[in-house]
Amino acid sequence: MNVSILGGSGYVGGELVRLLLDHPHATLLNITSERHAGRLVSAVHPNLRRHTSLRFSRMDDLGPCDLLFSALPHGSFAKHFHAFKSVAPRIIDLSADFRLRSADDYKHWYGHVHPNPETLNDFVYGIVEIRRDEIRNANYVTGAGCLATAAILGLLPLFKNGLVNDGEPVVIEAKVGSSAAGNKESPSSHHPERSGAVRSFQATGHRHTGEIIQELAYHGTPTVHFSATAIELVRGVLITAHLRLAKPLDNKALWNVYRNAYDAEPFIRIVKETRGVFRYPEPKILSGSNFCDVGFEIDPFGERLVVLAALDNLMKGAAGNGVQAMNIMAGWDERAGLHFPGLHPV
Ligand SMILES: NC(=O)c1ccc[n+]([C@@H]2O[C@H](COP(=O)([O-])OP(=O)(O)OC[C@H]3O[C@@H](n4cnc5c(N)ncnc54)[C@H](OP(=O)(O)O)[C@@H]3O)[C@@H](O)[C@H]2O)c1
Repeated sequence: MNVSILGGSGYVGGELVRLLLDHPHATLLNITSERHAGRLVSAVHPNLRRHTSLRFSRMDDLGPCDLLFSALPHGSFAKHFHAFKSVAPRIIDLSADFRLRSADDYKHWYGHVHPNPETLNDFVYGIVEIRRDEIRNANYVTGAGCLATAAILGLLPLFKNGLVNDGEPVVIEAKVGSSAAGNKESPSSHHPERSGAVRSFQATGHRHTGEIIQELAYHGTPTVHFSATAIELVRGVLITAHLRLAKPLDNKALWNVYRNAYDAEPFIRIVKETRGVFRYPEPKILSGSNFCDVGFEIDPFGERLVVLAALDNLMKGAAGNGVQAMNIMAGWDERAGLHFPGLHPV
């Protein structure tokens, strides 16, 4: 299968290149960058030195391919969607351009009118674990937000099993590394400002809240309070969610809920140890891997449950999940090209 990548000079684009170069069934055709057109891909992604001699090309020079990945910034993909459709019969867009089903939600969460609302329902919201069957038959798939992916994968088993009352507040704190903001520099990413920071950058109104509500609402009436904090990490997301269960459950019952949801999932691991350093999901050891680790703990003083979920924002939160979706669309083993287990120590 011939695959091309839009926005290949970015952080997500770089991960797509890394994954697809080693993919057993995919061949990379065009990798676009306007700033770096003509340059070696490995000049921008130095981890790929002597791994590829491909060069960046301009978007205008994109040739036909079997599947097109887009790792362009929010807004850029939607603007050209109709043109991209003539390049490839199948598209996976990792931006937020087609994640929300309702045009009104774009006004609410993104503060703008969607440029082509009539196409919103052409895209399948592509967290593989919740939309596998739809992805199998889809031509257009959208990736999910990295924070939203962790939150949804952590909470969905509870909603699916009717364990959260309608309207019950679910408070989610998300911690995230700097690569989630992409490779464009800004005052907040300047090293003296970013290094060592524990910075609450969106205490309310984070855009990913819209996706979380959208996906949980298929199984109830969620009330989501979401805050995001930038921490001293390059890669990684950890969400900690607090909620009260609709009925008291013990550890064994909750294990069953999560096991039933995820035992057959190749990239979701339930992490709940009683001893040692790694008792809970932790993003550091997931760097470069496509796993999402999910854990939970019942508050011993009441019915409050704490849910934790960790992932690498560039992998399960973006490129890795995208490749997993591509594998499913193509009918391959969904683990193809995604076997890297992460590093320890790192
Ligand atoms: N970073 C994450 O953790 C993460 C997670 C999930 C989803 N996403 C989504 O994935 C997409 C890529 O994210 P990223 O972190 O890789 O961003 P990034 O590092 O900023 O890369 C985006 C690339 O797109 C190109 N680009 C920038 N502005 C453009 C424009 N106006 N028109 C056309 N091309 C433009 C740039 O390449 P040239 O200027 O060289 O062409 C840039 O390298 C975004 O939509 C983001 O929301 C990111």
